[in-house]
Amino acid sequence: MNKIPLHVGIIMDGNGRWAKEKGLNRSEGHKAGGKVLEKIALYAKNLGIKYLSVYAFSTDNFKRSEEEVNNLMDLLIYYFKTKLDTICKDNIKVVFSGRTCNLRSDVIEAMKHIIEKTKNNTKCILNICLNYGGQEEIVDACLKIANDLNSGFLKKEALNRETFRKYLYQDLPPIDLLIRTGKEHRLSNFMLYQNFYAEIYFTDTFFPDFDEKEFDEALIYYNKCDRKFGDVKNN
Ligand code: FPP
Repeated sequence: MNKIPLHVGIIMDGNGRWAKEKGLNRSEGHKAGGKVLEKIALYAKNLGIKYLSVYAFSTDNFKRSEEEVNNLMDLLIYYFKTKLDTICKDNIKVVFSGRTCNLRSDVIEAMKHIIEKTKNNTKCILNICLNYGGQEEIVDACLKIANDLNSGFLKKEALNRETFRKYLYQDLPPIDLLIRTGKEHRLSNFMLYQNFYAEIYFTDTFFPDFDEKEFDEALIYYNKCDRKFGDVKNN
């Protein structure tokens, strides 16, 4: 592979439909999705991808049944607690994007624990978007910017694309390749600021069936893209 993207984003969609097709509970779909994420995160890291952002739970996902939300939160806690050793061994740093308000205190504790334990890891960053919304992220950044402008900490002239980025939940480079599984072709409020020039690979595969081979397909697609960033080169 010639070009390895610096930052890959994944909208892990289709867990519920995968479960339904198999006559299983939706939560079983999320569980199967968790196993896939484990494999893909490791695979991406070994390929030299430095940043992997995944959509684990959107602010709008709170509209789902209390049972599904609670099962999903339990699953996340399970992952943050039990996969810690592997994540540390693999030198992956875990960070989160999203609002902590509305999250259960045991979820917040598990998040803090994994952040602390992996904070010195250097090989790659796994950014987990949890209680996350792209518009919310931009609004939250604007509120912080307004404070810093009022206090004089930030000068109006210093505000640009790069400095704005530092006010987002995490200061991450733009997403180069966005993968969305599960048939739908939309952004669903995922990392709107960071996806501004992302190449987007859509696949019908439901996330629990996604694998390393299809990740390679997405990379092949990315390698064929002529990234012009608004310029006219190669025309
Ligand atoms: C979307 O599928 C998926 C989610 C809302 C949850 C994603 C969570 C995981 C893969 C669990 C593991 C995550 C981590 C970070 C350890 P959907 O439920 O919207 O599927 P549907 O569109 O088929 O209903």
